[in-house]
Amino acid sequence: MSSIVITAGPVFHLRTATASLLLRVGEEGHLELDWFADRLPDTVSGPIRADVGEDRTGLRVNYGADASSSYSLGEAALAWSSLGKGDFRPPGIQVAGHPVLDFRYTGHHLQPGALAATGLPGADGESTSQTLDITLTDPVAGIECVLRWTTFPDSGVITRRTLIRNTGQLPVVLEQAASQLIDLPVADTHVLTFDGSWLDEAQPTRLAVGKSQLVNESMTGSSCSEHHPGLIVLGADTTQSQGWCYGFNLVYSGSHRTSVAHSRWGSTRVVSGINPTGFCWPLAPGEEFCTPEAVTAFSADGLNGLSQQLHRFVNDCIVPARWRRRARPVVFNSWESNYFDFTTDSLIASARVAARLGAEMLVLDDGWFGARHDDHSSLGDWQVNERKLPGGLTELHRRLAELGLELGLWLEPEAVSPDSELYRAHPDWAITAPHRSPSLGRHELLLDLTQAQVRDYLVGQVGQVLDEAQASYVKWDMNRLLSDLPSDGYQHRYQLGLYEVLGRIFGPRPEILLETCSSGGNRFDLAMLTFGPQIWASDCTDPVQRLDIQRGLSYLYPASTVSAHISASPNHQTGRSAPMAFRFAASASCVLGLELDPTELSQAEADELAAAVAWYKSRRELLQFGTYYRMEAADGTDIACCADDDGAVIFDRVVQVCPQQVRSALTVPYADERWYEVRIGQQVLQLPGAALRRGVPRTGRARSLTALIYEITAVR
Ligand code: GLA
Repeated sequence: MSSIVITAGPVFHLRTATASLLLRVGEEGHLELDWFADRLPDTVSGPIRADVGEDRTGLRVNYGADASSSYSLGEAALAWSSLGKGDFRPPGIQVAGHPVLDFRYTGHHLQPGALAATGLPGADGESTSQTLDITLTDPVAGIECVLRWTTFPDSGVITRRTLIRNTGQLPVVLEQAASQLIDLPVADTHVLTFDGSWLDEAQPTRLAVGKSQLVNESMTGSSCSEHHPGLIVLGADTTQSQGWCYGFNLVYSGSHRTSVAHSRWGSTRVVSGINPTGFCWPLAPGEEFCTPEAVTAFSADGLNGLSQQLHRFVNDCIVPARWRRRARPVVFNSWESNYFDFTTDSLIASARVAARLGAEMLVLDDGWFGARHDDHSSLGDWQVNERKLPGGLTELHRRLAELGLELGLWLEPEAVSPDSELYRAHPDWAITAPHRSPSLGRHELLLDLTQAQVRDYLVGQVGQVLDEAQASYVKWDMNRLLSDLPSDGYQHRYQLGLYEVLGRIFGPRPEILLETCSSGGNRFDLAMLTFGPQIWASDCTDPVQRLDIQRGLSYLYPASTVSAHISASPNHQTGRSAPMAFRFAASASCVLGLELDPTELSQAEADELAAAVAWYKSRRELLQFGTYYRMEAADGTDIACCADDDGAVIFDRVVQVCPQQVRSALTVPYADERWYEVRIGQQVLQLPGAALRRGVPRTGRARSLTALIYEITAVR
């Protein structure tokens, strides 16, 4: 059965397993959004939205000059709009010198599958995906907008791009080109954004929009830890398990903006895409601009339902094909164990213990190249420092192989230190604004990825390092924000350069597991996930703080994408001490790794950690790819559950307790009528599904920074 049905009107019915999105051409030829919510019957005839028939003449601007027509763009629920003809809500497109733009339907085209966009990352289609192009034209401005929708029926996701073509005789300059404009059929909404900073990423912030407008944006040249590009529009009463919500995200790593605006007539406009601030894109006659892909999903089953749809989409359609549903290795990362201070011998000594703990790979972090002994120099000089690593990476690789470990490598290819051979040879390769000396961030500049010679150099140089080192894994870092922009629109051209470089390096090397990073989670986004299936979520490895960050990310991203390492106690960022069991339980609901000096563990800690890592490896398919539930717990506890058809693992992590508090029961909402074995450490219970749904009493006194792991298995 087709996932997009077109009937007379035309009316376009885009369907997923759980939702319908209904578009129709309105009485004046504009593209209207009739419905985006629960799935409708296969055949839809009349309009779904009722005309409330109110007298709205007050401040209305009618579309037509004909006095008998009362159609107003400002009151219609639209799927695309601009300024100048009576719609005063946030526009989707602005063009210099055209204060009036008016796009009306001129045609459509339906194709199977998802379509790739030149130069931009995007989602791969599911087997029943279809793509619908609807063309809207403004003949006066000589501009055509193709709204390109793709359905992902299994995930419950619909994506969208805008292709903007100059069909006129004169050049034009785009000042805004949104990926998404949609008038949702809901009012008085709340918005959940994910805000923070370095060491404090993805903190959920829930705000009531009421009658106002909320703007979520980044201007840093990155998707940004301060304001994440993904957000959720939800009802005032929506909880983890109940109520409606809409998820929005962008397959984009640059500056973004999403506005959520209350509209007087009972709808909410969401406009999302590249941030128009500083954006400008000339289009010669015949040229086309394609926006990043925007992602939308609807859930009637609360926030967990929405997250599960988005997780499936990321796991099946976003991450590189080779890593879809493929278990991720347990890495031992050298950063917090050694920082810049290591030799081959010291690395091998640590790696030997890490291998006994269950690690499968050493990731050699910063400091292995050039003359880099701190963060002041050598970025760009990707030649191994033989004083630290005699025999180079080849020798390190050989000695790791003897321990049964693979080699992973940290690089920050986009950056260059002013104190580097590369910068001395090519100062013009760094980003600089004309007639200004460039500003440093973490003592570094960025390379100008809009220059073809710079991209060619990076592709050749990084590729050579990876091949020589026989690297199985790369941690691709990027530790600053974009400043000193040479021209308007530069930020987007930088992103295009970055995507080309990543594609040319890793496309021919699909076996390399790419983990991206940007001072932790400053570039945690869907576009980066199309190149590398996991991201270093934060430079904060404190387990308490990390639980918040991971919980925030879980709204939009599956556990398989979130890299989470066990670090030393006391923690290097916060000074907080936490027992090994708690640190393990905080990391094990994501992609577990080690980020501590294993030679400093006591024998008891090493034994405990080795047993825990062995258990993680035995359950990692479920933990990384299972159906994920955030559980509500009002008692200072972070509870998350990963489930499949046969059972579940529940992490019950006590962050903080108040004396004498009564602990809420642990409910397992998806349990069916079977009996279940519930294993809590040494204790084993046999319980019917009904008892799990009602709640397993959490007995015993809770202690701060302790954790219980419940293993629940259906008994057939
Ligand atoms: C960034 C990363 C860290 C580490 C350092 C190395 O801060 O986020 O994980 O790799 O760089 O300099």
